[in-house]
Amino acid sequence: MKEKLVVFSGAGVSAESGLKTFRDMGGLWHEYALEEVASPKGWRANPAAVLRFYNERRQAVLQAQPNAAHLAIADLEAVFDVVVITQNIDDLHERAGSSHVVHVHGEILKARSSVDASLIHVLDKPTIELGEVCAKGSQLRPDVVWFGENVRHMVACEQHFATATRILAVGTSLTVYPVAGLVEVASDAAERYFVSPEIQKLPYGFRFLQGPATVVVPHIARCWLEGRQPE
Ligand code: OAD
Repeated sequence: MKEKLVVFSGAGVSAESGLKTFRDMGGLWHEYALEEVASPKGWRANPAAVLRFYNERRQAVLQAQPNAAHLAIADLEAVFDVVVITQNIDDLHERAGSSHVVHVHGEILKARSSVDASLIHVLDKPTIELGEVCAKGSQLRPDVVWFGENVRHMVACEQHFATATRILAVGTSLTVYPVAGLVEVASDAAERYFVSPEIQKLPYGFRFLQGPATVVVPHIARCWLEGRQPE
């Protein structure tokens, strides 16, 4: 049986593919008020503005390509049972070749009904417009999690974290709960690495490797695939 390896990713892993992060300088939450574009209240007040925000994000995702970090993460499947738990709504892990990706904050390339969360479909175009409705006649919205809404797959994610023998966290500020709390569920016996260009609050038991995802993640992956300890 293959060893279980969890990759926990945030916006930073897609930054070098040209997708904006949220909290860095130039990040989305400096440009937009998150309660206006990413909350049920914002949706009720101005659905057109919310759709526009996510239409722009979706177009950027469609133009982006997986980078060396996404590709190195996919390569790990040669030896490990890899579960990618991502806060990202893009599909770059999948396009890089990762076969088990869990999107805790939803997926921008899908639309769903605004009255029935189980009515979801993959979009066949880059935008959702006002007036486009689901089978039940309600406005379509992006299938993403907004502030104040439940995150997805938490029980399964806790189990993956608790049973993994290796964990690689990359490109996340660990500010958005409950998902950020997953790092605390990790086993003390697990080998744990945290990758970021800046020194930041480090979760308990994680070793910090500083640098951009496209440099550090391929290095860690190479070491793990060759049976060496990353330094
Ligand atoms: P943030 O924008 O909060 O954090 C991005 C992290 O990536 C920061 O720690 C950066 O230092 C790091 N970073 C930047 N460039 C990097 C690079 N090239 N390589 C590696 N790391 C890099 O993004 P998240 O932690 O993903 O949720 O944000 C969590 C959630 O907040 C998102 O899923 C989203 C947002 O609001 C919702 O919208 C529900």
